[in-house]
Amino acid sequence: MNAIAAIILAAGKGTRMKSDLPKVLHKVCGHPMIKHVVTAINKAGVEKSIVVIGHGAELVKDYLGDQVLYAIQAEQLGTGHAVMQTTGLLHDFQGTLLVLCGDTPLITAETLKDLMAWHKKSDAAVTVMTANMSDPSGYGRIIRNEKGNIEKIIEQKDATTDELEIKETNTGAYCFDCQKLFAALKEIKPVNAQGEYYITDVLAIFNQRGFIAQGLIIKDYQEMMGINNRIQLAEAEKVLRLKVLNKLMLAGVTIIDPESTYIHSEVQIAADTVIYPQTYIEGNSVIGSNCFIGPMSRLVDVNIGDNVQVQNSVILESKIGFGSSIGPFAYLRPGTEIGENAKVGDFVEIKKSIIGNGSKVPHLTYIGDSLIGEKVNIGAGTITCNYDGKNKWLTTINDGAFIGSNTNLVAPVKVGSNAVIAAGSTITKDVPAEALGVARNKQSNFEGWSKTKK
Ligand code: UD1
Ligand code: CA
Repeated sequence: MNAIAAIILAAGKGTRMKSDLPKVLHKVCGHPMIKHVVTAINKAGVEKSIVVIGHGAELVKDYLGDQVLYAIQAEQLGTGHAVMQTTGLLHDFQGTLLVLCGDTPLITAETLKDLMAWHKKSDAAVTVMTANMSDPSGYGRIIRNEKGNIEKIIEQKDATTDELEIKETNTGAYCFDCQKLFAALKEIKPVNAQGEYYITDVLAIFNQRGFIAQGLIIKDYQEMMGINNRIQLAEAEKVLRLKVLNKLMLAGVTIIDPESTYIHSEVQIAADTVIYPQTYIEGNSVIGSNCFIGPMSRLVDVNIGDNVQVQNSVILESKIGFGSSIGPFAYLRPGTEIGENAKVGDFVEIKKSIIGNGSKVPHLTYIGDSLIGEKVNIGAGTITCNYDGKNKWLTTINDGAFIGSNTNLVAPVKVGSNAVIAAGSTITKDVPAEALGVARNKQSNFEGWSKTKK
């Protein structure tokens, strides 16, 4: 049997982050570090994952939900102590145990698969993922013996000046023979510079017992960046951001200026879409093909069809259909659905409203809590007065209606299909289909009036 389980260590406070938020919930490319690690583990095909939580346990649990199991480390006494907290869940588990840190968000499923495959082929009791780093500071150093196997791992704070020269570091990712690990953990002691139980001390114990401890050098050391402070958080963001952009570009998306484009790691964009500079696409956004997005736009959790244009606009939690055009300078707030071949132009704000196919809201308009049918034209300066200070009310405008410029629609109100509203009206009563609604004072002209003033 080749059963594999995984443990993710995520109980630490992350003191160096100087934050109230547990370290693993700090985000890289839009998602908490722990999510990146859990995603990699899932993609690598590991079925059982245990997250060790402690500092901010409830927050981590709320975020991850029941996709993983949890072990609580009430006091953070070190990485070895953290692993010991999973004993109850793994005491009869005979397979391979993958141990990872929750603060290495750039890790990939491919690397985890390499590590597991390498471990499976050997008869080692542990395979450590190591990295050759030009600047190894902060990481544990790998001490190899004459056979090339790992003799021990020395933490930076416990290392001699000679050991500090070693460039091969511990990435914090390991494949262990589970039962051998738990047996050895019983012997580790918190006798070191930090007074902690180190998982890394297990390596020396394995050596004493004649078990083989091998190291696999990672191909791309950046993948194993451990995030301990906010400078490293920003570095990881930069590395992952470029990876995300490169993947999209290789899949057929044009990104005119990767330096100024920010796309979260789960965003999907179809081929032949062009992303202009200074654009942010966040959350779980999905964008179709042949779209032109940007410049200077921010899209969060959007669902955008093919052939859509978005210029200099902010769109939050909204849906836009095929062939529609948004902006420049539009603000679509959550719950907005724009149909196909519709137009939302400049200085338009839309909130929680549905705009039907072929309808136009070309300029200077606020639409809130509204249902707008197909081929409706909304004149400049139209306002749906949806809020009476207490409650929000619905405005309904049916197919083919024409709303003249500078109209106020005081909700709740309905405009029937093909109705016309005269410019400058304040509409407080429903307007029937095909009718003309006029609600403004008649004009009076006073001949010669300005002369009498002089
Ligand atoms: C650890 C390794 C180091 C390695 C580095 C890679 C040890 C002793 N050192 O150092 O060799 O180079 O990772 O990034 O293992 N955690 C707990 N409970 C605790 C302590 C830590 O769950 O009591 C968790 C943290 O939340 C974190 C992870 O373990 O996700 C690593 O802890 P951290 O303090 O960052 O270890 P490093 O000093 O980076
Ligand atoms: Ca770390």
